[in-house]
Amino acid sequence: MSTRFCILQNGPLLPQLEQALAATYDLTLLQAQPDPAAFLAAHGAEFVGLASTARLGAGRELIDALPSLRVISSFGVGFETIDVGRARERGIAVGYTPDVLNDCVADTAFGLLMDTARRFSAADRFVRRGDWLKGQFPLGTRVSGKRLGILGLGRIGRVIAHRASGFDMEVRYHNRRPVADSGYGYEPTLEGLARWADFLVVVSAGGPETRGLVSAAVLDALGPQGFLINVSRGSVIDEAALVQALQQGRIAGAGLDVFEREPQVPEALREMDNVVLLPHIASATHETRQAMADLVLANLASFFATGRVQVAVPGSL
Ligand code: 8YV
Repeated sequence: MSTRFCILQNGPLLPQLEQALAATYDLTLLQAQPDPAAFLAAHGAEFVGLASTARLGAGRELIDALPSLRVISSFGVGFETIDVGRARERGIAVGYTPDVLNDCVADTAFGLLMDTARRFSAADRFVRRGDWLKGQFPLGTRVSGKRLGILGLGRIGRVIAHRASGFDMEVRYHNRRPVADSGYGYEPTLEGLARWADFLVVVSAGGPETRGLVSAAVLDALGPQGFLINVSRGSVIDEAALVQALQQGRIAGAGLDVFEREPQVPEALREMDNVVLLPHIASATHETRQAMADLVLANLASFFATGRVQVAVPGSL
């Protein structure tokens, strides 16, 4: 019989992923322990693998509580919650699940964009309230042929740009550097992009480098006719500035899948009819979540077979 490697699970995972992990490995859920910190102190050295998620990640403290750790396999494309530098120092490989979610995240970005501009969710509420019996729903904003600004023309950003061609939209983007041969116009500043765009879609990575990038000044550049869409991380937008801009009519509306302190969504946003709010579901389809789960498993299997994960986080081993 082959050795069953000990894997620590950080946080809830898809049930079928949890079952598949438990079928192959000796799996322990950290949060099921009565005192997780005491458990780590007593048993941390037993684990060679960590299965985690983009949400909970693997901070320095957790990594250091696992002295035998050799591999981290994370469910998700975001890795700002993983201390990749510490993992590298410790010789720990880090796998994640990019690409398989590009289509569904791009679809969600477009769904939010359509909903925010045409006000489908608000119109649905209008019908349910019986308000149609009293009068017409107010006009929305046309999407086709408009200008789409993308903050972060990476893997997901490109798919969003591709979706936009079906709506005859002109696309420009802002990244730290222009993307060679992207075929889309590059705006050297985010404010410039916001000023040009009718819709600004935020799809850049989270973490300290992008914190608060969408500031009050960027929102003012987007202007009273402009819409903001966010499918990346709440931290990229100054949420307090966004609430103010919406309250004061300095932008037209917002479609948000992510927030600064999930699952807390500011009361002020929940009260606004020109804001569409989703509970971080951009990748949440059966098909995509299964593909992500498969990649979490493949990264572990590959590591234990070859010493390398199948898809490594940039900057990791
Ligand atoms: C994750 C996400 O599935 O991939 C990411 O980075 O934000 C989502 O797609 C979710 O956060 C799981 O932790």
